[in-house]
Amino acid sequence: MFPREFAWGAATAAYQIEGGWQADGKGPNIWDTFCHEKGRVFEEHNGDVACNSYELWEKDLECIQQLGLTHYRLSLSWARLLPDGTTSHVNQKGVQYYNKVIDDLLACNVSPMVTLYHLDLPQALQGQGGWKSPDIATLFDSYAKFCFQTFGDRVKLWITINEPYVCAKLGHEDGIHAPGLKEPGIAAYLVGHNMLRAHAMAWHSYNSFYRTKQKGAVSLAFNSDWLEPLNAGCTEDIAATERYFAFTLGWFAWPVFVTGDYPELMRSAIDAQSKKTGCSGSSRLPSFSKDEPAILGTADFFALNYYTSRKVKAGGGCGKMCMVSDQDAEVVLDPSWPICGVSWLAVVPHGLRKLLKYIKDTFNNPAVYITENGFSQVGPLQIEDVQRSGFYKDTILEVAKAIQEDEVNVRGYFAWSLLDNFEWADGFSVRFGLFHVDFADAKRSRTIYQSGREYAKIISKYKCGQSKEKTE
Ligand code: GAL
Repeated sequence: MFPREFAWGAATAAYQIEGGWQADGKGPNIWDTFCHEKGRVFEEHNGDVACNSYELWEKDLECIQQLGLTHYRLSLSWARLLPDGTTSHVNQKGVQYYNKVIDDLLACNVSPMVTLYHLDLPQALQGQGGWKSPDIATLFDSYAKFCFQTFGDRVKLWITINEPYVCAKLGHEDGIHAPGLKEPGIAAYLVGHNMLRAHAMAWHSYNSFYRTKQKGAVSLAFNSDWLEPLNAGCTEDIAATERYFAFTLGWFAWPVFVTGDYPELMRSAIDAQSKKTGCSGSSRLPSFSKDEPAILGTADFFALNYYTSRKVKAGGGCGKMCMVSDQDAEVVLDPSWPICGVSWLAVVPHGLRKLLKYIKDTFNNPAVYITENGFSQVGPLQIEDVQRSGFYKDTILEVAKAIQEDEVNVRGYFAWSLLDNFEWADGFSVRFGLFHVDFADAKRSRTIYQSGREYAKIISKYKCGQSKEKTE
């Protein structure tokens, strides 16, 4: 059924749960700043307190144990550890906090998977150009080395950067995530480029200085939808689907897993558009330098965040410099796929199986961890969230089929999220948790949803490959 060592996890991210935004010497980060500006986030919500996991970590641990997780994915707040983003000043209280989290997990037989960067750049580094500046790669590498050195004796699964696509596009093209820049057609490619450089440097550092002793694995987490042509018989839509894959998952996974460079479809489209829109002869998509650490091969496993599926149709270019014009492909919703919770999330469990097979075939059959997958609730609170329970059952069944029938090497599944939390621009209005958090209550009490109970049941049934029976 599931391999013996299969990781059964849930995921969170520092800014979304910790709070303690100024506690014990933490420096500000770009989400602190963004949320404190008017009109950025739903009803001016912010992560100042969030789930208060900085103070209530033990409560989170109880939740983790109640689910019976074998793994827990958390992220480190860069500015909590290094308040100005550099190793010139280390905040020992931050180190203590994460040491306790990691030690407590291990004491309960739960393995940590640790993300170094989940959207929360120290504000001091944003002041120096943030991800648009080429210098960010070495700064990130120093931070990564500091984390490997400090926590790597106990952490064996590392994610350098979570969803570079989301950081680049939502933060620098659309401006709906921090740092809120809207520089279409330019900044996202630059940011994506520097994220790949930063990731590769950190992976090489781990490989050269820590791997032998610490014996861990390092990757970066890609987000991808499953994509199908709107009209299966239409060659334009088929080509548009390929382009859309190239501009989303391929943008980051192709350099790391296939060639060390961007997908050809992406390169040729952006080069041509750059010429047309008069970029003084140079492409808006940067090139990798031969003098820097290679990008190819810098992932020890494939980390996938999957939420939804889309149909793709040709067209969408508006002539202006922007990512949509560059790829000349648009996504649409299939009306037969139900939308639940947020408007962008069509619930398509079988899309995950198809995507896993696509990853196996396209990226050389890597070991895959599904590092995020989930389903949101909006509007009136429903603790008995029958639909979400069904979603977890169906999705995990699709993962089982991917393993058994398609022979995809899936090593783990992490539900997003352990707790209801600060859902970026949607604030607390969107709830992804397996546990409900009462944000009106100073104690931020946690209550398990029915879907949490369902996930716990699934885990206890399949944990450790004990069960040989077929999934119903
Ligand atoms: C991911 C992100 C998470 C979470 C989730 C649900 O893109 O990594 O932080 O917000 O989406 O929208």
